[in-house]
Amino acid sequence: MNLFIKKDMNKLIADAGDPHASEGSGTGELRRTLGPVNLIMLGIGAIIGAGIFSLTGTAAANYAGPGIIYSFVLGGILCALAGLCYAEMAAMIPVSGSAYAYSYATMGELVAWIIGWDLILEYAFGAVTVTASWSGYLMSLIHKTLGMNLPDWVMRLTKGPWEQVTLSDGHIMYGFWNLPATFIAIVVAFILYRGIRESATVNNIIVVVKISIVLLFIALGWEVTKSANWIANPDATGIFSLVPLFGASVRDGKEIMSYGWSGVLTGAGVVFFAYIGFDAVSTTAQECKNPTRDLPIGILGSLVVCTVLYILVALVLTGVVPYKELGVAEPIAVGIDAIVAAKGWSILSQTTFSISVKLGALAGLTSVILVMMLGQSRVFYAMAKDGLLPWFDSVHPTYKTPHIATAVNGVFVSLCGGLMPMWLVGELVSIGTLLAFVLVCTGVLILRFTNPLQPRPFRAPMVGVVAPAGALACIWVMSGLPTDTWIRLIVWLIIGFTIYFTYGINNSRLRVRA
Ligand code: ALA
Repeated sequence: MNLFIKKDMNKLIADAGDPHASEGSGTGELRRTLGPVNLIMLGIGAIIGAGIFSLTGTAAANYAGPGIIYSFVLGGILCALAGLCYAEMAAMIPVSGSAYAYSYATMGELVAWIIGWDLILEYAFGAVTVTASWSGYLMSLIHKTLGMNLPDWVMRLTKGPWEQVTLSDGHIMYGFWNLPATFIAIVVAFILYRGIRESATVNNIIVVVKISIVLLFIALGWEVTKSANWIANPDATGIFSLVPLFGASVRDGKEIMSYGWSGVLTGAGVVFFAYIGFDAVSTTAQECKNPTRDLPIGILGSLVVCTVLYILVALVLTGVVPYKELGVAEPIAVGIDAIVAAKGWSILSQTTFSISVKLGALAGLTSVILVMMLGQSRVFYAMAKDGLLPWFDSVHPTYKTPHIATAVNGVFVSLCGGLMPMWLVGELVSIGTLLAFVLVCTGVLILRFTNPLQPRPFRAPMVGVVAPAGALACIWVMSGLPTDTWIRLIVWLIIGFTIYFTYGINNSRLRVRA
């Protein structure tokens, strides 16, 4: 039995329907409504979220210091390499399965299954991780606007069963269920169920709000940055005093070594999470009006916008707050307090600014959840169309969405968001995404040799350098992730193999036809 049976690329593209068909044409097909602007907005919607609003601070405080700016540059370069490969693949094979489908055409069914299963880590568990941040920001917003502590029962109902809650009488108890996390997953699943156009509209509104808030933070903070904060080691002289890369490093609050590049590289691994999401654009291939032209625009355009914004936010944040004070869950809030103090604003303006940024963060996190859940349902849809999963290939007769995949994924994310500890899933999302990137970079190179004549509406430049460099950079970041994350990945893949060898292999439509 050939476990590496490959899907013919032209058949794969034909199965996805006519890319230039009119809206919603054909029964059982997804609705083609997305243009280039929607795609860029979806990319930005997926990218800017928990990473920039939470991880930037800890990465700066614990690893890179003000050199976090360089970590963002490196993260951006790594994602640009992978993004170029995604853009070539997505334009050449415009189908909703994304990396799963590309692997089916290049490396065969077993690898495709592995990557489809792995994408659950990126999209479904990515959404789960961000629902927890959403819940945290909501609680903090309620606390800030109402200016009081919430009743004990509310606190217990807004924490998962793994989190400790200190009650008003000083007792320590455990939470019940992270209800806000469950709530937002259900709301988002409902929007996705209703239609791709409705989902894109909601996403567009949210993205405008979150970009406005990020720009406001940059504009107001820029005026009050202190260049002394960018110099990690104030005793350094000469050129080293100007470059924040060669100062002292801190870990657990202790200065332990000159951090140089090693801290910056570790920081790049941490902030990689902030870039995850641009690839989700490729899962909407069957809902684009002109996928071969617009997918590369959406993938690369959103990546460029977010990289620029991230570097500016990192510059302002480390410029207004000494990096050692940034190791908190809400570093942007610490940055706001510093900006407000430097400007000598009244309490009212301070509260208004702080609440606006929290609302912006909440909006930002909502769109990440939306696009991640969108991506997951499309990958499930593609896998079910190939017979590797049951039921999920059904398309709603009116809304033209993969409604069963959307509903099941909604239930999954809402349950996991409510009940799972975040430490279990956070780094799994990064390792799962990196594995997908490695396979897409490898696949692009393979196809240049095996299918050189296949039309490529977008060609990654210098592919001989870009694709191997992208794959190696991802492998390098993966190698820096903790051993227990690797163990969880392996356990996840073993579960996947079990399902493939008991269900997928027997129901694969490609095998039945072969
Ligand atoms: N890039 C997304 C975020 O930072 C996953 O929330």
